[in-house]
Amino acid sequence: MVKINTIDISPPLINSSCAWSSDLRQLQELYDSSYTGAVTTRTATLSGFKEDASHTVAFSSSTLTSINSYGYSPHPLEAYLSWIDTILTSHSSEVPARKPFIISITSSDPTTLRLMVQAIQRFRARIDGDGSHSGQSAIAVELNTSCPNIPNSPPTGYTFSSLVPLLEVLRDEYAHDQTLTIGLKLPPFVYREQFLGVLEGINTLCISSGDGGTDKCPFAFFTCTNTLGNTLMFPEQASPAGSPEASPFAVPTALGGLAGESLHALSLGNVYTFGQLLREHDRLKGIKIIGVGGVTTKEAADRMRRAGADIVGCATVFGKEGARAFEILTN
Ligand SMILES: Cc1cc2nc3c(=O)[nH]c(=O)nc-3n(C[C@H](O)[C@H](O)[C@H](O)COP(=O)(O)O)c2cc1C
Repeated sequence: MVKINTIDISPPLINSSCAWSSDLRQLQELYDSSYTGAVTTRTATLSGFKEDASHTVAFSSSTLTSINSYGYSPHPLEAYLSWIDTILTSHSSEVPARKPFIISITSSDPTTLRLMVQAIQRFRARIDGDGSHSGQSAIAVELNTSCPNIPNSPPTGYTFSSLVPLLEVLRDEYAHDQTLTIGLKLPPFVYREQFLGVLEGINTLCISSGDGGTDKCPFAFFTCTNTLGNTLMFPEQASPAGSPEASPFAVPTALGGLAGESLHALSLGNVYTFGQLLREHDRLKGIKIIGVGGVTTKEAADRMRRAGADIVGCATVFGKEGARAFEILTN
């Protein structure tokens, strides 16, 4: 079991936020699996994201690799809160009573983000005070700072200054209620100063304990990594293979986010670097790492742990195999 602030994840294997954790049926299946220690929702916005045929995913024919052009979930945050409510209300005794949900959210606007976090906080307060939910509110928030597929809106995780107003909202909400478990979904970084920049920025957001004790970091976990943007796959490289005459690229937008085996080495490097830097950091060493990226086999899950992940997550293999993926990663 791994404890992240107020949530316990056991086993330490989860789905990462993705198109296959989008609706009630998918979330229920993830929740019911005895191989998942928590369920991460697809990234929700306050009002839902306009999805069309250009938003899709393709798998490679040669390795368990995906490229996707999805934006955020078409379903608004409210839908996720109501589905989680349904799942917790109909909770069966076979699932541990406090299997957590990690609600992935995003916004580029601090006021909107605050509304979203406050809606989650009202939801947590309601289900905690309501005897019909045997699950209790084992609910965490993950801010997605790293979707590479949003036109005119580059991933905020790459430019810390654009992230600060959003992180200040999260810091304030945590200051009001330190039982709120908050994490950041980060993009794949490619050089050391990028990691140092994140930690320097996060360090300035720590809350003084006021009594001379250790300052508190509002952020309890990092999820590393999201997909790698600006990647391209041709249709004949995809499975099932397409023809270049019918569509010139594997996804209609040509460029998309790379995930799965092709991302694995970079994600391992990100987890390793954050692990090393956090360990040396007095105030931030309590931050847990959810290692995601190319975990498609048990060996890959083991490598993620060796690199420094406290918890391992996956999307591509889950998209390919369904909930059976978590059994594959375990046995
Ligand atoms: C089809 C698809 C949709 C995704 N949607 C989201 C999303 O909504 N929010 C998010 O934070 N990450 C999203 N991701 C990224 C995954 O959570 C994960 O970080 C990435 O795919 C690397 O893991 P993997 O190699 O196991 O796929 C998506 C990935 C895929 C393949």
